[in-house]
Amino acid sequence: MKKILVIGSVGQIGSELTMKLRDIYGNDNVVAGIRKTMPSEELANSGPLETVDATNIEQLAQVVKKYNIDTIYNLAALLSAVAEARPQAAWNVGVNGLYNVLEVARENKCSVFFPSSIGAFGSSTPLDNTPQDTIQRPGTMYGVTKVTGELLSDYYYKRFGVDTRGVRFPGIISNLTLPGGGTTDYAVEIYYEAVKNKKFTCPLAKGTFLDMMYMPDALKAAIDIMEADPSKLKHRNCFNVTAMSFDPEIIYKEIKKHIPDFVMEYNVDPVKQSIADSWPNKMDDTAAREEWGWNPKFNLEEMTIDMLNVIGEKFKKGLL
Ligand code: SER
Repeated sequence: MKKILVIGSVGQIGSELTMKLRDIYGNDNVVAGIRKTMPSEELANSGPLETVDATNIEQLAQVVKKYNIDTIYNLAALLSAVAEARPQAAWNVGVNGLYNVLEVARENKCSVFFPSSIGAFGSSTPLDNTPQDTIQRPGTMYGVTKVTGELLSDYYYKRFGVDTRGVRFPGIISNLTLPGGGTTDYAVEIYYEAVKNKKFTCPLAKGTFLDMMYMPDALKAAIDIMEADPSKLKHRNCFNVTAMSFDPEIIYKEIKKHIPDFVMEYNVDPVKQSIADSWPNKMDDTAAREEWGWNPKFNLEEMTIDMLNVIGEKFKKGLL
């Protein structure tokens, strides 16, 4: 049985991934690494919890040794728009933090999951059907940390045999924990605003296509890549994975099918727009499909039904 540490377990992905990993591998085998944000009661009471700041290598090594950890999911990061506002902090968490994780993994023979992103591409990348192996010259600090992370992770695999694996996540849409400061956050916020106020102001322009994925598929990607047969992996850090691609008009019309009086207007955020314009419209994820059987379940229609159900229920109970 694996012994897993999730760094960043109260974040958008971490909060759901930690619980899913506990379901699969057993509560006691999955340590939730937290920093400043208080964990939910469910997270705190269902298994071990430790303070883990990836930028503190001694603290990290201590937790890995205490629990005999063999697999680290390193989800600590600042999302793209926040990283533009705080580039030094983004580098520190995204690169120095990952370096510490890889060093501790090397010394303690752990596998490492690294979440890269559509942000690892830039405006010189082919943005339609973006290939697995292509130009990666991002113009954002977020992208710089992701490309550096991909290279470092591949280096640790080739040089030291550390079992590093990762995916390039698109925008992740979920209904438990909100993302914070990402360029793709609008595709989460639009559902909450549709349910709560029937009105949404979109920060990205009409025609801005981006890859997206519903959380259950994102969790599946993170778990399946770590379970994949290593002999089948030609790539490691990191695989393109996508489930759908849409622009604001398409998601707006999809939600409007269920909430006919929902209204959307635009107020373009120039920072987010320029980031989004440099990211793929749609990635080609053939390598992930061929090498470890990636196959997402949710498309826009199915995701929208589920999102509106879950958020609608929370709204009715006064939880939003
Ligand atoms: N969701 C991320 C962001 O928008 C992209 O990986 O920053």
